[in-house]
Amino acid sequence: MKTRFTEAAGIDIPLICGPMYPCSNKELVAAVSAAGGIGVVQPLSMVFVYKDDFREGLRWIRSQTDKPIGMNVLIEKSSKIYEERMKNWVQIALEEGVKFFITSLGNPRWVVEAAKPYGGIVYHDVTERHWALKAVDAGVHGLICVNNRAGGHAGQREARRLLADLKDLGKPLICAGGVGDPESFAEMLKMGYDGVQMGTRFIATEECGAHPDYKQAILTARAEDIAMTDKLSGTPCAIIKTPSVEKMSLQTGGVERFLLKNRRTKYLMRTYYALGSIWKLKQASVKGLSYKDVWQAGKSVEGINQILPAGEIVKQYAAALPEEMVARS
Ligand SMILES: Cc1cc2nc3c(=O)[nH]c(=O)nc-3n(C[C@H](O)[C@H](O)[C@H](O)COP(=O)(O)O)c2cc1C
Repeated sequence: MKTRFTEAAGIDIPLICGPMYPCSNKELVAAVSAAGGIGVVQPLSMVFVYKDDFREGLRWIRSQTDKPIGMNVLIEKSSKIYEERMKNWVQIALEEGVKFFITSLGNPRWVVEAAKPYGGIVYHDVTERHWALKAVDAGVHGLICVNNRAGGHAGQREARRLLADLKDLGKPLICAGGVGDPESFAEMLKMGYDGVQMGTRFIATEECGAHPDYKQAILTARAEDIAMTDKLSGTPCAIIKTPSVEKMSLQTGGVERFLLKNRRTKYLMRTYYALGSIWKLKQASVKGLSYKDVWQAGKSVEGINQILPAGEIVKQYAAALPEEMVARS
């Protein structure tokens, strides 16, 4: 199936395995890309959780498939060391032939500029029109429309509403959130999206390095078992209601909320949260129930009931596309 997104990214199936800290490992990225979708490297996950050298990790993926892969750039200005390191990773990715970037949080302009000489394209995560306009102004090529059913940091709008709000911007739009079965994938494309990004579905795969307890929790959870917390990063994040989550308070207190909103303290607070959650999520993902089981997942858990090879998922989803949509290409 051809869409504006598949044409721009040079792939066959408009399906992205979204970046996931701490679940994206190189095996998962390679498997999705090899099957005709596109896997996206999450550099913190690759280097910090799975202990791969960044360049060597990319080369390993290249040794498995010559199909396109992507890279996630979380733009965070609170730490100079982080910023420099991210710039260096982007440079390495460009040198190693990565041409698709997904940016989140801050202003993506520097990534657009860095990618330009290499023919790279940048899609930015957005949850509403206000941020989409800023991203378009910064020169991005497409938008990842994060809706209210997404795993990780969810948006506030429903998929249909977000599409309606952003359609006139003239950019390819990717639906992120709530897709966990082939029928919903086809439905989002029929609705008018140019592609779908999935996270939760790809955790329950043979290749994903997450702990078996985490994968099992995704298989057993229903949509109503997903809770929102701002305790991990300072912004709402979807997690599974596990026994330890039931025990913790899910929302920040008044003082924390004040510090998160205050212009002077918000970056410091976010760094504090980010450092804490980077550690907690990593431990939970690799150690399973023996550690505090704080596992991110979206409402798409509802449609997920089997651990499958990632490539098989890409094939099943592609097969769900109705004939007339494939013919649209
Ligand atoms: C465990 C987990 C970690 C995530 N980490 C990131 C991340 O590091 N960067 C990012 O841009 N998106 C991240 N996301 C969002 C996904 O890339 C994707 O947009 C989202 O999972 C789509 O919703 P779904 O889980 O319902 O498929 C994460 C999602 C999950 C479930």
